[in-house]
Amino acid sequence: MSRAACLLVIISLMSPAAEALDNGLALKPTMGWLHWERFMCNIDCDTDPNNCISERLYMQMADVMVKEGWKEAGYEYVCIDDCWPSHQRDAQGRLQADPKRFPGGIKKLADYIHSKGLKLGIYADVGDKTCAGYPGSLGYYEKDAQTFADWDVDLLKFDGCFMNRALLGEGYTNMSKALNNTGRPILYSCEWPLYEWPLKQPNYTAIRDTCNHWRNFDDVFDSWSSVKSILDWTAAHQDIIVPAAGPGGWNDPDMLVIGNFGLSHDQQESQMALWAIMASPLLMSNDLRDICPRSKELLQNKRIIDISQDSMGKQGYRTAKGNDFEVWERPLSKKRLAVAVLNKLEIGGPRGFDIGAAPGWKICGPQCNVTQILPQYKEMGVQTQQSKIIVSVNPSGTALLTVTPISSDFTRLHKLNWQGTFVRRKHTIL
Ligand code: GLA
Repeated sequence: MSRAACLLVIISLMSPAAEALDNGLALKPTMGWLHWERFMCNIDCDTDPNNCISERLYMQMADVMVKEGWKEAGYEYVCIDDCWPSHQRDAQGRLQADPKRFPGGIKKLADYIHSKGLKLGIYADVGDKTCAGYPGSLGYYEKDAQTFADWDVDLLKFDGCFMNRALLGEGYTNMSKALNNTGRPILYSCEWPLYEWPLKQPNYTAIRDTCNHWRNFDDVFDSWSSVKSILDWTAAHQDIIVPAAGPGGWNDPDMLVIGNFGLSHDQQESQMALWAIMASPLLMSNDLRDICPRSKELLQNKRIIDISQDSMGKQGYRTAKGNDFEVWERPLSKKRLAVAVLNKLEIGGPRGFDIGAAPGWKICGPQCNVTQILPQYKEMGVQTQQSKIIVSVNPSGTALLTVTPISSDFTRLHKLNWQGTFVRRKHTIL
């Protein structure tokens, strides 16, 4: 074999099995805000000017994101969902924003959002119509991609209503190409697998090649039963979907509904913890202008966001269940592990869970360092595989911890004092 051929073989052996969409975007799960769950298709600006889908809503959200620490915490994309366009395309066949609700047009809105150091997302549909009945992009992929690029849009959520299911793959792929051909980096958020599952098992290699994230399952509602159903679906399909996730492409279990009406605080903590474990996009759908301080603190919790944004980019999954507990674990960079223990029993009070029963606890041999993040921050210090730590978990709440293994090289240089904390040896024996 020639040297060049040999090099090619080596390179191809080194490449990961599933390539991500090659647009350099979503190297970490996307963070931002998306209007749908909270504001839906409220187009009544006459009687509800504060909450209707209008340029004002996104401008106000962007203002708050900068002023109230959201941008600093990592939330970057301000995203428009359905119901923004006019029911008619313009004379050149281009989509246009509803003139009454978006008097400045989308380009001006994008300029405003960019002036705040944020990015703008928009919504369209692969089929004839959007889910709420606005013009779809079928037959207009190039034109719509170019229009979004001309407007300086940064993200496209591409829905799958009113489309022949057999043609979903072709449609999503063609729009991906059309976006790439504009030369503008536009993050591509798909719903391809969600619409394809009723027909056949989606091809996640192709999806990862085409999209930066993809919805698999039903829309999230503002309720614990909805969040639970998403977790159940994800765990039931984890063998198929988890390997597809990684830098550049992520499974999308839909928006965070933290800060709304339907979840107790424990349930909000569960959504935040599990969305971080699942390496999900963190797209909040809430009213940032009026949000309870505890929800805000949770959504801006740096330690949870660090798990979500971990540089290794591996999605976590359910590793154990029993006695109405579920253990979810996510491998993190530097051989660390995030562990979430969800109490699924919706009756009674807090229940204890022996964290040593988590399958990942084996990284505590010989020793590990443990930090509890939820329900409250607590340094638990150095532990061994034999340690018995009981974490208390409220009904429908979650305890979230990180576990950092301590290598045997390190332990050889140290000894445990009687309290179980490390002291440095004066003379190290190598
Ligand atoms: C579908 C999507 C939702 C939302 C609505 C808008 O249901 O799954 O996320 O975009 O359409 O009509």
